[in-house]
Amino acid sequence: MKIIKVKDYEELSKHAASYLIEKVRKTPNMVLGLATGGTSEGTYQNMINDYKENQTSYKGITTFNLDEYIGLDGDNENSYRFFMDTHLFNYLDIDKSKTHVPRGDGKDTLKECDTYELLIKEHGGIDLQLLGIGGNGHIGFNEPGSSFQSRTRIIELADSTRQANARFFERLEDVPALAITMGIATIMESKEIVLLASGEGKREAIKRLLHGEVSEDFPASILNKHSHVTIIADEAALTGL
Ligand code: GLP
Repeated sequence: MKIIKVKDYEELSKHAASYLIEKVRKTPNMVLGLATGGTSEGTYQNMINDYKENQTSYKGITTFNLDEYIGLDGDNENSYRFFMDTHLFNYLDIDKSKTHVPRGDGKDTLKECDTYELLIKEHGGIDLQLLGIGGNGHIGFNEPGSSFQSRTRIIELADSTRQANARFFERLEDVPALAITMGIATIMESKEIVLLASGEGKREAIKRLLHGEVSEDFPASILNKHSHVTIIADEAALTGL
């Protein structure tokens, strides 16, 4: 596991964007796994800035997002589809039909899980998966207790996750209780993984990821078993480690 320490969130966002942009330039038809959440916002903004300045093309890129709330369709501004469109896709030359976010409209969700897995396979798997990390060690929406063998499925969100994400909603009660998420095994099949962590709120999670045991109680710990993981974290997230 390689750790890149940067000063703060601004540097993290620049660094992560440059890392992804370089990959996209080298492999213009790559399959990119993307994440939502506050941490990735700055990275996407820097990718947009680069697109405006340097016209890096995303025409050949296919994307798969990690997860989506169940009960929110793509027009809902708290859906991850809406997030991805408004924080990244709408500002690039990417072919929207090649961008995939699990469908969370609640219609035939079980089938959607299988379809999503199949689609990833049909594209030859994910070349690079971007990840954030939850305070409880979740990756995607794989909450503690998720099987390391798990694949794309429906999951009940932990109370702590709903509370952490309530900042994007009007009220805590509005945060969906269920989500659809790529499984741990799905994520682990990615050829490369880049995990972003910023701020002291992530310090304990990063400490446990780096120094704790590999256990389903702490889903991100499985990353220790992957051969190509880069963690980009800022000083606040790495203090004392
Ligand atoms: C959210 C998302 C994850 C994300 C994580 C961290 O619940 N489902 O994919 O990586 O939690 O979010 P943030 O970057 O906002 O701290």
